[in-house]
Amino acid sequence: MKILGIETSCDETAAAVVADGVTILSNQIASQVAIHARYGGVVPEVASRQHTLSIIPIIKQAMAEAGTGWHDLDGIAVTSGPGLAGSLLVGVNVAKALALAHGLPITGVNHLEGHIYANWLGGSIPIFPLVCLIVSGGHSDLVLMRGHGDYVVLGRTRDDAAGEAFDKAARILGLGFPGGPAIERAARGRPATLNLPRAWLKGTDDFSFSGVKTALLRLVDDGKIAPAERNDGRPGIGVAAASFQEAVIEVLVDKTIAVARERPVRQILLAGGVASNELLRRWLVERSPLPVLAPAPVLCTDNAAMVAACGYYRLHSGKQDDLSLDVVPGLKLA
Ligand code: KG4
Ligand code: ZN
Repeated sequence: MKILGIETSCDETAAAVVADGVTILSNQIASQVAIHARYGGVVPEVASRQHTLSIIPIIKQAMAEAGTGWHDLDGIAVTSGPGLAGSLLVGVNVAKALALAHGLPITGVNHLEGHIYANWLGGSIPIFPLVCLIVSGGHSDLVLMRGHGDYVVLGRTRDDAAGEAFDKAARILGLGFPGGPAIERAARGRPATLNLPRAWLKGTDDFSFSGVKTALLRLVDDGKIAPAERNDGRPGIGVAAASFQEAVIEVLVDKTIAVARERPVRQILLAGGVASNELLRRWLVERSPLPVLAPAPVLCTDNAAMVAACGYYRLHSGKQDDLSLDVVPGLKLA
């Protein structure tokens, strides 16, 4: 069963063809990162216009790379939320037009559910029940998954999402956008010697990352961090980046493992853009008593293969939408 996946929820225009929910036949991504970088963040109207320009070429490329014609497809899966309304509308309307033109079933996919299903594309199938840590630009959720489409959100962020915290910290340190990869690069080989606060929120499975970001801002404002390329005895940008990264990752790892120990789960999954962070992946594997699965880094950040994988399981269980499918910018997982 071949599914065409379409993803336009934020600033990546992506299309992919996936067979049987697990085999990637093509995975095309047109990134707008360079366009938004000059504004220091995603500009919604610019994003939707770029999607409009890129969506048809990127779908054609995905179909060609997969060697697939329209008659070979069994369905179309498209992200319908959460995300930027104007961006989501481009993908959903193109998907509906294609479904109508080619007589194909369509299913709307929750972007977060898509991130989780990136774990089905790595060659081994996850085993239920499991705990998944979804860490992206908009979410830091700890989710219990008992079966396909069966989610209980155990914890979530009370303020900034993990990716959002990385992006803000990178801006504070003058490291550019997107912040996660920039912080990770700057931190490489540097000691995490600054003592930044960890918000454990004991007794809950929730997260909070605004405190560590504010603490970093205060250090910079108070002149405690040496600016780039100056070695004057003060800790530099790299040390600040490494300290920030460790403070965020330590809380993510320890709280995820605590949740997994409390429940009768068989695996821990990672998902979302921050899941491509090497330290997060390494510490979780080293410290977890359970097997840990994480998608390949290119499948952690936004892509359409994950949407097609999720769409396969949705269509398989009869979760088909009709042409009244609409976008839901604030769509929840459960
Ligand atoms: O899942 P994603 O591509 O888009 C959303 O659904 O939000 O996640 C993007 C977020 C950004 O905040 C970005 O800074 C962060 O993921 N990110 C990282 C890394 N790569 C991307 N954060 C930490 N380390 C990374 N290597
Ligand atoms: Zn995402």
